[in-house]
Amino acid sequence: MKHPVCMEEELQSGEMKSLKIDRIPVVVIRSKEGELFALRDVCPHKGPALSDGSLDGTCTANEPGEYNFVKDGEILKCPWHSWEFDIRTGCSLFDPHNVRVKTYEVTEEDGKVFVHL
Ligand code: FES
Repeated sequence: MKHPVCMEEELQSGEMKSLKIDRIPVVVIRSKEGELFALRDVCPHKGPALSDGSLDGTCTANEPGEYNFVKDGEILKCPWHSWEFDIRTGCSLFDPHNVRVKTYEVTEEDGKVFVHL
């Protein structure tokens, strides 16, 4: 089911908005590139709101001493112990197959942002 969450202009690039939809905490994020994502707003470790954390990027490397900064603004970091989640997939960076956050479809129509639960 589709739920309106805000007007498009209320969620600028690099911003997050937290809300509850049918009592489910959800964080809606507009990436720096302008894409929209939505995740369950609960850290699977100890339960704080991920929206109280920060958006950042991460580093990859092909060999020791190499640092490639990637996914700028697409990594949501928990405010308590800094577990990191990819906003595209909800997967954690440290154990993507076993530790993840539920994601939801987001659409924009007629100047409004909708989350689909
Ligand atoms: S509560 Fe989120 S990383 Fe520990």
